[in-house]
Amino acid sequence: MLIPRKLNKMKNKFLHFFGIALLYIATSTAQANSVDKHLQTYQQQGVSQADAAAGEQLWYASNNNRSCSSCHGAKPHDMGKHIKTRKLINPMAPSASPGRYQDSIKVEKWFLRNCKWTFGRICSVQEKADILTWLASQ
Ligand code: HEC
Repeated sequence: MLIPRKLNKMKNKFLHFFGIALLYIATSTAQANSVDKHLQTYQQQGVSQADAAAGEQLWYASNNNRSCSSCHGAKPHDMGKHIKTRKLINPMAPSASPGRYQDSIKVEKWFLRNCKWTFGRICSVQEKADILTWLASQ
């Protein structure tokens, strides 16, 4: 079928807008689901309730001058900077960084590595649930 040029342009504009709207809806739902998914796993591992305030306290707790904020920055909405490599790290707040917490392997890998580096020990399942709940709310 022959579509007049102007109409065709309008169609393309509409499709473009519609595509972006769909993408937006898809990513925001994926976001909520991915954090929920990790929290569900922690629940299965014995956590009955996550405490965001405890998570925030832990995030800023200092151990020999090391804290989660050493690399991730003073606020979860801000860019972080790796204390050693000086590489920039995207914000931890999902509202500022939509790619956050999509992959449980990545989340667990970094919890393990960063808790060890910061606190000199692994974080408990309860601590991970508390921190993630606080970060996700930012
Ligand atoms: C020495 C630097 C450093 C410190 C200190 C640090 N992190 Fe990280 N963290 C990183 C880097 C680098 C990444 C991977 C890059 C990225 O995800 O943008 C990361 C990623 C993460 C992720 C994965 C995020 C995702 O999107 O899946 C979590 C969770 C995390 N860190 C938690 C913590 C917690 C909790 C602490 C404190 C106990 C902490 N980090 C302290 C450097 C650090």
